[in-house]
Amino acid sequence: KEKALARLAEMNKEAELGGGEKRIAAQHKKGKLTARERINLLFDKGTFQEIGKFVRHRETAFGLEDEHYLGDGVVTGYGKINGRMTYVFSQDFTVFGGSLSESHAEKICKIMDLAMKNGAPVIGLNDSGGARIQEGVKSLGGYADVFYRNTIASGVVPQLSAIMGPCAGGAVYSPAITDFIMMVEDTSYMFVTGPNVVKTVTQETVSAEELGGASTHSTKSGVTHFSCANEVECIENIKKLLSYIPQNCEEDAPIYPYEVQADESRVALDDIIPENANQPYDIRDVMNGVLDEDSFFEVHKDYAENIVVGFGRLAGRSIGIVGNQPAVLAGVLDINASNKAARFVRFCDAFNVPLLVFEDVPGFLPGTDQEWNGIISNGAKLLYAFCEATVPRVTVITRKAYGGAYDVMNSKHIGADMNFAWPTAEIAVMGAKGAAEIIFRKEIAEAEKPEEKLQEKVDEYTETFANPYRAAYRGFIDEVIEPKDTRQKLMMAFEMLEQKVDKLPKKKHGNIPL
Ligand code: COA
Repeated sequence: KEKALARLAEMNKEAELGGGEKRIAAQHKKGKLTARERINLLFDKGTFQEIGKFVRHRETAFGLEDEHYLGDGVVTGYGKINGRMTYVFSQDFTVFGGSLSESHAEKICKIMDLAMKNGAPVIGLNDSGGARIQEGVKSLGGYADVFYRNTIASGVVPQLSAIMGPCAGGAVYSPAITDFIMMVEDTSYMFVTGPNVVKTVTQETVSAEELGGASTHSTKSGVTHFSCANEVECIENIKKLLSYIPQNCEEDAPIYPYEVQADESRVALDDIIPENANQPYDIRDVMNGVLDEDSFFEVHKDYAENIVVGFGRLAGRSIGIVGNQPAVLAGVLDINASNKAARFVRFCDAFNVPLLVFEDVPGFLPGTDQEWNGIISNGAKLLYAFCEATVPRVTVITRKAYGGAYDVMNSKHIGADMNFAWPTAEIAVMGAKGAAEIIFRKEIAEAEKPEEKLQEKVDEYTETFANPYRAAYRGFIDEVIEPKDTRQKLMMAFEMLEQKVDKLPKKKHGNIPL
């Protein structure tokens, strides 16, 4: 019996060493943690349960017959994060560079299947040289098994990916299908083809960091939602994100304890909108002013900054927030902003997170660049995402709501449940000057003093349309509210909508303009 116990202890020790002391030291030298150290940081102490610790690869070619590592380059299992069940796979770069073999893929698939049956999130900690080259098509098959599961699980359980080392070639498509990606600055990169291939094919000289590092993907491509200073911050972000979302699509997000105060007004909100309607302000001031203190958690912070999205809490309830950002490009909607917000809206809708929209939008960005790259179909994604969202949906128009963008930004007409406007709201087809120039063109041209006539007409148009009352007369706006009362109004609105039931007609699936 003792011998049997000793063997088990030895095997456990061997598995826990992964590729061995030397490779662990090399990992640390690169400023990276090991697969197991990451898991220890992620889970509540003592809760992680490993599955498949002794799994080995089955390859016999290229000398692999004699080279085995228990666990085969990925640590998989489940445990609790802030008391909630979560599944994880954590690739071990010290074993064959974390490369994915058939057995490695099977381990990932096993925990994904368990997560699906039991309705809990899957976290992937990626650190891998890609397909295990020695295994050839078996390894490619393994990837496809994972991609397939990622897709089927999409919208059923939340899937989060952290990129903590290389993630190249086909490997990128698993994280790409998951709901959120986090990258660690300086030690991680993602690309379909690396710098060497790029050089051969396009003659471009580019470093791995420049081609696919955290800063590139958080600003230029938008592939990653978070760029994290280091691995510890990355893992903290995963935990934080999980705190806003439910375990699966059948559940609601956790509610944090909150004691409603007799006076929930926030007078600072009254001073945010500048006197001059063309002056910018930071929409985050509105968000932070309305939400529970320090609860706003921004997603995709450095990408398409003309729209701001993120999670927050209102009286302890989790909500998804989307807001035009007047401080960047005057808050216009463009291709990137539409994509960013559409994906966020769809995530919230898939996982029962109510949506709150702050609107201050002068319209869509004009220009050949936008038109030729498809602002029509890309803008339509955001429209489509709002239209089909069945979660509670509330909009607050703080200032401009012009043209088609007014419709898109969660208007009453496309299914919003409650639409508020501040008295500074301007709901019109376009800005007053542009409108006056078009509809009074003849009158202005024929006037003795065209400049004065134009101003007179601008004033007339402003007086008529640059306010929320035309919309309120028709019921497109449910209530015009003072900014300071916004928090209270929203708390009541979301509580009123808590039991909302809304179903889309039966269909196989819609055909969002991709
Ligand atoms: N298959 C099998 N083994 C792999 C591997 C793969 N895809 N990627 C890395 N390894 C092994 C290396 O042979 C090395 O083994 P060793 O420690 O026994 O020498 C170990 O993992 C570490 O790799 P190394 O190249 O020393 O690390 P690095 O940090 O310098 O570079 C990569 C990392 C990912 C850039 C580099 O390993 C690489 O280019 N790998 C191949 C990527 C690829 O083309 N994948 C297939 C397409 S998806």
